Amino acid sequence: MRLIFIADVFGRPGRRALARLLPGLRERHAPDLVVANAENSAGGAGFTRDTAEELLAAGVDLLTGGNHSWDNRDGAAYLETAERALRPDNFPPGVAGRGTAVLPLPGGRELLVVNLQGRVYLPAIDCPFRRADSILADWGGRGPVLVDFHAEATSEKTALAHHLDGRVTAVIGTHTHVQTADARILPGGTAFLTDAGMTGPHGGVIGITVETALHRFLRTTPRRFEVSQEAIRLQGALLDFDPDSWRALALERLDLPLED
Ligand SMILES: [Fe+2]
Ligand SMILES: [Fe+2]
Repeated sequence: MRLIFIADVFGRPGRRALARLLPGLRERHAPDLVVANAENSAGGAGFTRDTAEELLAAGVDLLTGGNHSWDNRDGAAYLETAERALRPDNFPPGVAGRGTAVLPLPGGRELLVVNLQGRVYLPAIDCPFRRADSILADWGGRGPVLVDFHAEATSEKTALAHHLDGRVTAVIGTHTHVQTADARILPGGTAFLTDAGMTGPHGGVIGITVETALHRFLRTTPRRFEVSQEAIRLQGALLDFDPDSWRALALERLDLPLED
């Protein structure tokens, strides 16, 4: 079985790259499922019902989220009832939305998708390691498991991947918007990529224009950021796994330019 994971879709450039490039990826790789992180899909900050539905209509089966999932009020409201949009699971009780979904695979099989968020250089939410343990205990090894671990620190991501090695099919990191070159299969059979990168403009500073990013660093005062339009790419990962043993067979980075 094959799954395409699409890294953080950033603003309109990211949505355009996904809509234009996903059909070709579908044709070339014939994935059984497509999962995309949508936390930045509306102007780079959060998502809206419209941007979520646009991504789903473009061929994404499930949207994951992150620390920006609540930036847009419309998107936060959408999370309350959304069937195909997750936010990190390890937020406190009472927070809108949910962090896991079960997706149908061919042959009556099912895939569990788990969205978690790290705690290093991010708010001190519940422990993602222990939350993963309890989710997997509930799942009871019914089938393959994909984890989108939305975290800043490479150490925390690598540690979670080892913690889950042999218990999940893949751990794919998101959030930094910079793709790492370390796709590999861990000794227990779990595929791991520290960060899948960003689907959006790579000419600025992790999605925003150089000018607005520099203002923040040089003047240390807030300034509304602008979405960059330069060097748009689709990034993510291509995962092959065995549907019976649910072990990962291969994990490859995806990194394609949007040609105009
Ligand atoms: Fe992001
Ligand atoms: Fe993030």
